Amino acid sequence: MIFLIGFMGSGKSTIAKMVSEKTNDPYIEMDQAIEEDEGMKIRDMFALKGEEYFRDKETEFLRNLKHDVVLSTGGGVILREENRVLMEEGTVVYLKAEWATIVERLTGDTDRPLWKGDNTEKKKRFDERLRLYEEAADVVINVDGKTPEEISEEVIECL
Ligand code: S3P
Repeated sequence: MIFLIGFMGSGKSTIAKMVSEKTNDPYIEMDQAIEEDEGMKIRDMFALKGEEYFRDKETEFLRNLKHDVVLSTGGGVILREENRVLMEEGTVVYLKAEWATIVERLTGDTDRPLWKGDNTEKKKRFDERLRLYEEAADVVINVDGKTPEEISEEVIECL
């Protein structure tokens, strides 16, 4: 089991797909799986049911994982201690991106409910999470300035 963690825009989905092609373990995008289960977009889930409801779905999803997969998690998966404990079952790889990289990639994004507010609010969320990503990670990979191919190779090497 491989869990890719990191802030929104750190490249988890792209890298998880590439890693899964190399390891032959199926790739799952957690947000997408939750959207399909709930028949609702994450953005609408946050608006209609609230963040805690979505967080419960993330925890349920992790509890029910049975097969070896390469899982691209949502950026907030590390917020709950139970999730961090559940991920100890596998190798947790943190894709660590600089703040400037995240801003460059997410400017104009309207799909992510927690990519909101002014720059100070966004940066605060980023800073607050750094410690949790580091704490949950078995491996940290700096992604800035690297190609997806290079990053996925690094992931494979550390498995
Ligand atoms: C979230 C990140 C999103 C998604 C939800 C909440 C977060 O996933 O799970 O909008 O709290 O950081 P990505 O990291 O794939 O954008």
